[in-house]
Amino acid sequence: MKDEICKWIAKSLVNISEQEVTKFMEVPPEEKMGDFALPCFSFAKVLHKNPVKIAEELNSAMIEVQEALGIEKSEAVNGYLNIFMNREKYVKHWIDKMRKPDFGLEKTGAGKTICMDYSSPNIAKYFHVGHLRTTVIGNSLYRIYEKLGFHVVRINHLGDWGTQFGKLIVAYKKWSDEETVKEKGIEELLRIYVKFNTEAEKEPELMTQARSWFVKMEQNDEEALGIWNWFKEISLKEYSRVYNLLGITFDSYAGESFYRDKVPALVEELKSKGLLKKSQGADIIDLSEYDMPPCLITKSDGSSIYHSRDIAAVLYRKETYDFNQCVYVTGLEQSLHFKQVFKAIEVMGYQWADNLIHVPYGLVSLKGEKLSTRNGNIVYAEDILNEAIERALHAIQDKNPDLRNKEETAKIVGVGAVVFHDLFNQRIKNVDFSWDAVLSFDGTTGPYVQYTYARAKSIMRKNNKKVDYENIDFHVLTEDMGYALIKALSGYEEAIEKAAERYEPSVIARYLVTVAAAFNKFYHECPILHAEENIKRARIILTDLAQNVILDACGLLGMSCPEEM
Ligand code: ARG
Repeated sequence: MKDEICKWIAKSLVNISEQEVTKFMEVPPEEKMGDFALPCFSFAKVLHKNPVKIAEELNSAMIEVQEALGIEKSEAVNGYLNIFMNREKYVKHWIDKMRKPDFGLEKTGAGKTICMDYSSPNIAKYFHVGHLRTTVIGNSLYRIYEKLGFHVVRINHLGDWGTQFGKLIVAYKKWSDEETVKEKGIEELLRIYVKFNTEAEKEPELMTQARSWFVKMEQNDEEALGIWNWFKEISLKEYSRVYNLLGITFDSYAGESFYRDKVPALVEELKSKGLLKKSQGADIIDLSEYDMPPCLITKSDGSSIYHSRDIAAVLYRKETYDFNQCVYVTGLEQSLHFKQVFKAIEVMGYQWADNLIHVPYGLVSLKGEKLSTRNGNIVYAEDILNEAIERALHAIQDKNPDLRNKEETAKIVGVGAVVFHDLFNQRIKNVDFSWDAVLSFDGTTGPYVQYTYARAKSIMRKNNKKVDYENIDFHVLTEDMGYALIKALSGYEEAIEKAAERYEPSVIARYLVTVAAAFNKFYHECPILHAEENIKRARIILTDLAQNVILDACGLLGMSCPEEM
């Protein structure tokens, strides 16, 4: 209905597009200012008219069409056009729409493919909070885009190649053994990696050995690859525990190592296009013209590097998946890296360079300091999740000891708390990690939203009847609280579209809080089960829609909801 109104306004204002009207149309802070309001200030320049006049003219013209647009009345106030919907029509429109599968959402992504590159931890290192962020954000974006009909290829671009594995092999041979690594896993790999770095400062010769082991890996040396592969298996097994807790799977684990044999062809292509330059023995693409440092392609010993493996990867993905977009979710500190990679694709003459998108997120710090494995300033994803589950279990034992499936519920609530906390703020904001903030169950949190769902569910259980969408007295739902809830629910489609457009799951998280608050108000002020039959039927419909939307939107964030809590 809002779209129709925007369309009509755009038609009435020469030289203003529907998109512009939509962009400025807002939901006023107070009910008495209408359901929608259009500030006309931004149109003044183009229309050579003052905003007060624009609003007044629109207001007079609107009288003729208001009936058709489902508007009750409009008014012009200080340059604003305030629009009041006919509540009954509005309620009917949205209930008809939202009872449909997928809430009648337009599948704008049908027939289109997105490659989503996220999580991508580095082998032989722990899965820390930073990687938890890319994992959770990427997973949510995958779900949001899939909802819009896109085919999404979920890619875990593992950091499983590079000189660091040369270091690990040297360290393993010098300071560890099969037994210990088998027993301790990543912990041991990390220990010897740290030891290598300390020792190499005193004994530079170690670095030479590490480099030559990595060159061996690049030359497919059997022993080198054997050890490397084993380390990789150990790491993946540990990561899978985190993925299982989060309920996350991938379509491809083709990481950096997968592209090592594709770099030579890239080098040839760059040479033939005259793009490769020698610099201190290394091969580079000069990007000074674009105010960027050169993009390194191969090192002086001929080995590939993070950049060149990423360029090879995107060429491979384009060929394999023919994507419409390739999205990378990583920390902000990799922005330059992706600028260089995308620019390289552009100068190679690929027009689809425009379809490569870096989605950065802010740094995670701990007590104001950078996370670092070296000085032990680190928080592990698995610990966070387990601790959250533990605390949820305590809370349940405390508040609802008779609950069935306590463990299962604690898992859903604990994981939900972590996921929601990660997604609630704009992704670009830096986060100073605090256990208390992540594990708080009060305020705008995952458990609050889940609790609201459980509350709605419980009403539906008590009602214990099939929901009757055929005989609704829509008029009942025009009183303030019901109407406010319908308005909140009707924003779902827009929230999904906005979240997708901005690659911003926080839009959904915030939307969920709005819906939960509207439902809780409605619940407190409008008796549902004890109301008269026709009122009860109508309010049950609202409750049903609210629980469906909350469950579905939580799904878009990658969290589920328990039926009871
Ligand atoms: N492994 C990298 C890291 O942990 C992230 C990889 C992101 N994806 C990519 N295609 N470069 O920082």
